[in-house]
Amino acid sequence: MSRTDRPGATERLGADARSVARGAEILARGGLVAFPTETVYGLGADARDAGAVAALYAAKERPRFNPLIAHLPDTASATREGRFDQHATALARAFWPGPLTLVVPTGPDCTVSELARAGLDSVALRVPAHPLALDLLRAVRRPIVAPSANRSGRVSPTEAAHVLGDLDGRIDALLDGGPTTVGVESTIVACLGGGPRLLRPGGVPRDAIEEALRCTLPDMDQTGAQPLAPGALASHYAPRATVRLAASDIRPGEAALLFGSPLPGSDSALAVLNLSRAGDLAEAAANLFGFLRRLDATGAATIAVAPVPTLGLGEAINDRLARAAADR
Ligand code: TXA
Ligand code: MG
Repeated sequence: MSRTDRPGATERLGADARSVARGAEILARGGLVAFPTETVYGLGADARDAGAVAALYAAKERPRFNPLIAHLPDTASATREGRFDQHATALARAFWPGPLTLVVPTGPDCTVSELARAGLDSVALRVPAHPLALDLLRAVRRPIVAPSANRSGRVSPTEAAHVLGDLDGRIDALLDGGPTTVGVESTIVACLGGGPRLLRPGGVPRDAIEEALRCTLPDMDQTGAQPLAPGALASHYAPRATVRLAASDIRPGEAALLFGSPLPGSDSALAVLNLSRAGDLAEAAANLFGFLRRLDATGAATIAVAPVPTLGLGEAINDRLARAAADR
């Protein structure tokens, strides 16, 4: 796998043991391999290899000031990379493997490259729950950084086809494990002393984290000159269409993204998809990114989105919708 000469074709791999071994071999040589996690597909590179990490930033066209999450197969290997206080330890115990990322101070033996951390003295760590991701991480036996496997600023991929749509020919291989189940990215909690802070709502709802911590989880103050999660840029997950939030009706020519009951005018919409007819937030999260892509592909100038409650997983859904609707 040559780093300077990205191959023209992306190798399509499955979910079997041979595919996992092949994916691990490519990663160990400094290549880029997309793989499913339970949240979204990630684009993996060897976290220790600055050349591989640089190629990853280039393939995604991601700004280098935006640090990456290192993925590990178990809590024991994660705790070798960073320093876990009592809160981080409790959260790892409660939610790993699963859709939670912990940002902790780097430990003395941290192997995640400075480039992957964007020069910060903290590191983002996650033990995913997807069996194919875990198989790959166990086979490669080193931390793997993996941002969502989309071009920077685009909607995150929840199916292998989404990954290829954005990155075919720019990455070495893709492990196809079918559609992801959670559908929104991991919740990110910073444990940097002085109490845990929420950096990004995601697949583990805030109330579940508060229950495990037995205290409230305030948001990280992101208003300063240097936001702690630089990835939390306002415009993100951007479809081509304009996104109109909290729609109480559907206007002529609009595509409609519903939640629960239909809205006035949705019968004559250009296209209609319902995140969850039953009003189930987990189902809505799993459908969110795929449905945004499908409605965008209709060519509608505007996607009107019905209100989604902000409780539980609704917080992460509304966060992603707000970013999709932000000015760019
Ligand atoms: O579910 C997920 O988390 C997916 C899957 C593939 O694991 N990954 C993902 O990665 O969403 P990405 O790169 O799209 O988002 C990583 C976020 C960014 O907002 C970044 O700024 C933040 O994590 N981050 C990483 N390291 C950080 C650090 N040391 N301090 C603060 N924020 C950090
Ligand atoms: Mg992303």
